[in-house]
Amino acid sequence: MIFLCPLQDLSNHQSKGFSLNEQPIFVIRQNQKVYAYRNRCPHLGIQLEWLPDKFLDIDGDLIQCATHGALFSIDDGYCVSGPCGGQSLQALAVDIREGEVWVETPPAERR
Ligand code: FES
Repeated sequence: MIFLCPLQDLSNHQSKGFSLNEQPIFVIRQNQKVYAYRNRCPHLGIQLEWLPDKFLDIDGDLIQCATHGALFSIDDGYCVSGPCGGQSLQALAVDIREGEVWVETPPAERR
């Protein structure tokens, strides 16, 4: 696991992008819980956000890919709508330790 940031640096019900092990990831905080995913849409393998740190739909209920609008559940990354329906984002394990957010090291990208 790698230290990401203090929990207080993440706004509640907001998403934020990071680079970890040279891989783009993003996290979403929901109260005392944090979800982390690789920033890679299963449709075309590209990053999801439309603006820096903007990974959620307008209601903040689902993760949204900016390119073709695929929607994913926040709690498990499952695609509920869009061209990659039935596939999932790659989840990364998260541990909150004494107010610090630690995230599973994403595997290095094959080149
Ligand atoms: S690239 Fe994400 S929905 Fe097409």
